[in-house]
Amino acid sequence: MTTFISIAISYFIGSISFSYILTKKIKKVDIRQHGSGNAGATNTLRVLGVGPAVAVLLLDCVKGIAAVLLGLTITGDPFVAGASGLAAIIGHNWPIYYGFRGGKGVATTIGVLVTMVFFAALISGIIAILSIVITRFVSLGSLIFVAGTAILSVAFANYFHYPSYYPIFTVTIALLSLWRHRTNIKRLINGEENKIGKKAST
Ligand code: G3P
Repeated sequence: MTTFISIAISYFIGSISFSYILTKKIKKVDIRQHGSGNAGATNTLRVLGVGPAVAVLLLDCVKGIAAVLLGLTITGDPFVAGASGLAAIIGHNWPIYYGFRGGKGVATTIGVLVTMVFFAALISGIIAILSIVITRFVSLGSLIFVAGTAILSVAFANYFHYPSYYPIFTVTIALLSLWRHRTNIKRLINGEENKIGKKAST
């Protein structure tokens, strides 16, 4: 029962879309109809600017941290922690409060991965940030982060003493993120991806 409660609460927490809420409040528009159409921190940067984007990044990240900690606290079971983290990402991507049209889950994924597999996420995060600084493609950095964390958490699971379920969840989360970024991947391949720093017209 506690497993179900943790996963359900995590889904509902993940469904809170801070990019949607802030954009509605500040500009009275639906973020999903502006910029890339994605309800996330990167598109908040395009639509609202740096301050709100950082707020969205942190708040969405906290959703992932809260979900994993909730699972660990009420069950002590790493499987429930991972499943709750995944549920928060699913909530972000397909939110019950906003017609199941959400974002790509990157910030929430950061929160989940940092809480579950800290060192793998830290190393991948540094590489991802460098790639964003160099290329100015946030999507590329996001993909490097999720794929890198999955690979490192599998390769160094014993070294970092990760619970056996964690690498399974990091790979699942990475595959979900790759699929969610499929249009970004196409744009990257075709040289048409949006670079960070361009404002969206609202
Ligand atoms: O935050 C998701 C990021 O990886 C890509 O976002 O708006 O450029 O599709 P966006």
